[in-house]
Amino acid sequence: MKRIKIKELLTSTEFDRQVHVKGWVRTRRGNKNVMFIALNDGSVIHNIQIVVDVSTFDEEQLKLITTGSCIAATGKLVESMGKGQTVEIHATTLEVYGSADSETYPLQKKGHTLEFLREIAHLRPRTNTFGAVFRLRHAMSFAIHKFFNDKGFYYLHTPIITGSDCEGAGAMFRVTTLPPVNPPVNGNGQVDYQEDFFGRETNLTVSGQLEGELGALALSEIYTFGPTFRAENSNTPRHLAEFWMIEPEMVFYDIHDDMDLAEEFLKYLVQYALDNCRDDLEFLNNMYDKELIGRLQFVLDNDFKRITYTEGVEILKKSGQTFEYPVDWGADLQAEHERYLVEKHFERPVILTDYPRDIKAFYMKQNDDGKTVRAMDVLFPRIGEIIGGSERESDYSKLENRMKEMNLPIDEMWWYLETRKFGTAPHSGFGLGFERLLLFVTGMGNIRDVIPFPRTPKNANF
Ligand code: 4AD
Ligand code: MG
Repeated sequence: MKRIKIKELLTSTEFDRQVHVKGWVRTRRGNKNVMFIALNDGSVIHNIQIVVDVSTFDEEQLKLITTGSCIAATGKLVESMGKGQTVEIHATTLEVYGSADSETYPLQKKGHTLEFLREIAHLRPRTNTFGAVFRLRHAMSFAIHKFFNDKGFYYLHTPIITGSDCEGAGAMFRVTTLPPVNPPVNGNGQVDYQEDFFGRETNLTVSGQLEGELGALALSEIYTFGPTFRAENSNTPRHLAEFWMIEPEMVFYDIHDDMDLAEEFLKYLVQYALDNCRDDLEFLNNMYDKELIGRLQFVLDNDFKRITYTEGVEILKKSGQTFEYPVDWGADLQAEHERYLVEKHFERPVILTDYPRDIKAFYMKQNDDGKTVRAMDVLFPRIGEIIGGSERESDYSKLENRMKEMNLPIDEMWWYLETRKFGTAPHSGFGLGFERLLLFVTGMGNIRDVIPFPRTPKNANF
């Protein structure tokens, strides 16, 4: 008989038919006459109840049905009289694929801390919390592709191994096949990367933007969605060494168009989650964050406040707050500053524009004041920066001058500069940190809990 997923069965009203389910046992309870199994197959947060008439089964087999075991059950689907479920299965046959020893199964009891669950990343997907988070992660991925596809953007795959560190977004992880001990050295006594796999130094990418720009300058509107890597030693609840980023890049967009797209995109994703992931959101709302659903709705109902960095700094200086890091024009804003603007001052998402050029990347379009660039960062409650983007410098000589000022390797980046030499065009883009989005949408407090296998300093165990 064909297996039916629990999600489908729970909404079914076709009673009294034989059905076949498979999944993992969340709990078993009962007495010597009747046993109740709560079964979950990951298709939905809820379990289906399987009612077992103990007298009709082999006692030894029933002993194997422990919390955590994997079983298949066949039986009659009936309307449930019990509280908390609408349907249940009255079992006629049971098959045990794999028992789980109740003495050693780590998820035997409920209520483990998230810290403990991080140590058992191989089993934590079997908890309600991580089931909900990973289903939401899937739904958001799908919604991202849908949003862009519906708008006519093309999904461009940019390389993961790159030969350039032009972004300057953070320290990079080297990719090499040279032996760690006694690598070949050149005449200057330095490692000779000409002997390396690619015949040059290569790293894992920190961003797909520069290659994304090449795509946009041909296909008009593209987006990337892939893993990015940053070897910064930032052990915070908002940083990963390996995270996923979505980077749309659009020709003929100025910074205002860029901001409009970013706001529409974030609202679309939040709306998608509310429309399609209600059960999981309600679970997370009840278990972790009573304001989660309210906060999601709030983002939909309010325009994002758009102000310049300079205005933001003035507000922070006048705020009378004591911050851990001082606020001064020219310094990068810390999460505490961003969150003050969003949570206390404006009480809504904020988009800050026109940052000092010295704290932003070389490719951002320079303003006429000679001091600021057309950057835009979207700041969110609880998260701080969720999106970073800008209008790009499309003028060849301004870009080249800026690269020289910043001592960037111009001869290695000839390909990027050539886009401004041949048919240059105004264009803009931004990067959304996928896990930061998920922090917001799930209400989880630590970025390690919204990615299946987090990579952070001193942690890449499995
Ligand atoms: O602001 P960032 O560094 O911008 C870029 O990389 C540009 N190339 C984007 C573009 O214009 N196409 O990173 C973009 C976003 C941040 O706003 C943040 O949400 C996320 O990526 N991010 C991180 N997320 C998790 N862990 C980290 N270490 C992150 N660093 C950045
Ligand atoms: Mg940034």
